[in-house]
Amino acid sequence: MTGVASLAVLTLTGCRTDMWVQQKVQAQDSSEFYALADPVQGFDGKIYGDGSRPMPPNTIARGRLQDPNDPFVTGKDASGDLLTKLPPQVKLTREFLNLGQEKYNIFCAQCHGRAGDGMGMIALRGQWPRPVPSLVREQLLTQPIGYFFSSGKYGFGIMYGYGARMTDEELWAVAAYVRVLQLSQNANLKDLSPEDIEKLAQAQQAKRSNQATAPMQEN
Ligand code: HEC
Repeated sequence: MTGVASLAVLTLTGCRTDMWVQQKVQAQDSSEFYALADPVQGFDGKIYGDGSRPMPPNTIARGRLQDPNDPFVTGKDASGDLLTKLPPQVKLTREFLNLGQEKYNIFCAQCHGRAGDGMGMIALRGQWPRPVPSLVREQLLTQPIGYFFSSGKYGFGIMYGYGARMTDEELWAVAAYVRVLQLSQNANLKDLSPEDIEKLAQAQQAKRSNQATAPMQEN
């Protein structure tokens, strides 16, 4: 009996709908609540009561002011040619390359591969109208650095751009890191310091003697 009574109390009092129907912010939608309290006329003439306000035309959010022709933003110089060097806003440091590596591995490696060879997991498994290209192939070694920035930012052919997901600084860092990947797979022995050449020779020597002794260890 008490069970039935408490059930009745619960159902009769618990099912009130006033919280459901009350005025409130509707996500991505005009809401009575804001329209009544603080109506805003949008630039299209409509009254908006959105929780998030429409941007007035020709305005820029604080801290977002950028010169749209700045090479840092476009990847191109005043005559419209792709930059061959990093823009002055960024400095080539170890931290900058680390940032590029991190962002490359997050945003690009799944297709272009961690080594930049175009063998990312999506490239290997996906059905592509055009194959995912290698970023370290010979033809791209002579492309200006702005090429990698602007392909990343605005997209390239069927590849979509990352301008909305990454900052310009991150995109420059990724472009610089693509250069690292290119060098890592096309390095010239002559470019190494004498100590590094010596280390390399020792490593090869060690490898050879390991190979020579390996069958004996097995027996
Ligand atoms: C979802 C897969 C995918 C991801 C992720 C991706 N790409 Fe691509 N990328 C492609 C494909 C596919 C092409 C070739 C497009 C075509 O030919 O139409 C391409 C082309 C390119 C090219 C032109 C290469 C050439 O051959 O000239 C560059 C540069 C490039 N991508 C850089 C990047 C960078 C930088 C990132 C990360 C910010 C990135 N891509 C992320 C799939 C991807």
